Amino acid sequence: MRLSRLQKNFESLASADPLWTVLSAKDKKGGKWDPEEFYQSGEDCIRGLQERLQGIGIPMTGHSALDFGCGVGRLTFPLSRRFDLAIGIDISASMLEAARQNAHRGRHCKFILNTEKHLDCLDSQSLDFAYSDIVFQHIAPRYSKPYFREIARALKPGGTFVFQLPSHLIHGSPLGKRLNYAAKALLQTFGLGPAYFEMNAIPRDALISFLERQAGLVHVADWDYPAAGPNWQSYLYAFQKL
Ligand SMILES: C[S@@+](CC[C@H](N)C(=O)[O-])C[C@H]1O[C@@H](n2cnc3c(N)ncnc32)[C@H](O)[C@@H]1O
Repeated sequence: MRLSRLQKNFESLASADPLWTVLSAKDKKGGKWDPEEFYQSGEDCIRGLQERLQGIGIPMTGHSALDFGCGVGRLTFPLSRRFDLAIGIDISASMLEAARQNAHRGRHCKFILNTEKHLDCLDSQSLDFAYSDIVFQHIAPRYSKPYFREIARALKPGGTFVFQLPSHLIHGSPLGKRLNYAAKALLQTFGLGPAYFEMNAIPRDALISFLERQAGLVHVADWDYPAAGPNWQSYLYAFQKL
């Protein structure tokens, strides 16, 4: 999916139901998320991440952390309790508006709208930590790969980048999925059809090789991480900058 179409789809979904667009549980559609429960899930997620990283000797502390594809700040706010500054970047203005309305849930947060293919909004070697959960799965590899390079550029030497991404489909046909998305995109071109999520994957070995050879990162660990649902083999990856 082109970036402009991705932005329109997320904007349309987020303006109608931002919390469900972030965590799309069937029984929460139509504004049914309890905001306290929703934001607590972010704290639980970051606490789990912290324990995971402690297990491999990586502390989650430092000056600045990035939450790429921050949505309504579900993970940015818990990151802001562990770093001096948490920066949330998102492609949807409606998501960021909801994040700003909930600013009292975090400490020092900065939210940035970025609809570009690059991340010029981030200074080089400025981040201690970068995180992204349930985001890159929606971004076509021709865009996610340059974002990976950009995030690597923005990390300080020794900084850590943790993110989730599916590797491949376990159930269903990749060609079937492509055709389904192509049909949806065609309908949208004619002003028909609802907003939709597109799922993307990069095979695990190809991803590690890309990040090590072309982004100056070192693969530290990965874990099975079924955030993309039962049809996808998905991983949580940890990389560090040389
Ligand atoms: C499923 S939500 C997850 C939000 C957040 N990571 C969380 O777990 O609470 C995906 C988010 O990624 C954002 N997003 C999608 N493509 C993006 C891009 N190219 N750049 C920045 N944000 C993007 C969407 O607007 C949306 O807020």
